[in-house]
Amino acid sequence: MTEKVETASLRLHVNGETHVVSVSAERTLLSVLRDDLDLTGTKYGCGEAQCGACIVLLDDDPVPACALPAASAVGRAVLTFEGLAKGGGDGEGDRLGAVRAPLDGEGLHPVQRAFIAETAMQCGYCTPGMIMQAVALLRRQARPSDAEIVHAMNGNLCRCGVYPQILRAVRRAAELLAVQGP
Ligand code: FES
Ligand code: FES
Repeated sequence: MTEKVETASLRLHVNGETHVVSVSAERTLLSVLRDDLDLTGTKYGCGEAQCGACIVLLDDDPVPACALPAASAVGRAVLTFEGLAKGGGDGEGDRLGAVRAPLDGEGLHPVQRAFIAETAMQCGYCTPGMIMQAVALLRRQARPSDAEIVHAMNGNLCRCGVYPQILRAVRRAAELLAVQGP
């Protein structure tokens, strides 16, 4: 006997655009973002809300999209890594996770620019999640101390160990945001 898969039609507001997707009940937001909306900047790491690779903002709150049913995002604003850059959302999945703007920094969010300026990446796999977590922190707190940055980023793991550069990048991002605004 074949099991019947329950599907639902969900209206998701992602990076300022509305998408209607028909998905089965158990699908995660991460899976829908990557597989249905082609937003591959959000990465799959542990799949268990333990590494931070899949962090997106839900109404400004950083959440692990791998552990969130897509249905939970209905009625809320989802911001992914692509949505940070002007005109983002093309999902081509380059090393920095699908930003349409050139890598000279044109059109990138100040936090993205700060990570590039400090070379705060090696393989780059953790980078989108790190950046989304940093954006959430800097929206809550414009000038965090080093200890506050470390505390806020504690759930984001980097297997390449570029933590010192990431700390410097978040500091630099705070300075850029103070001058230019979000
Ligand atoms: S993939 Fe979601 S926290 Fe690791
Ligand atoms: S740069 Fe490779 S996991 Fe962080």
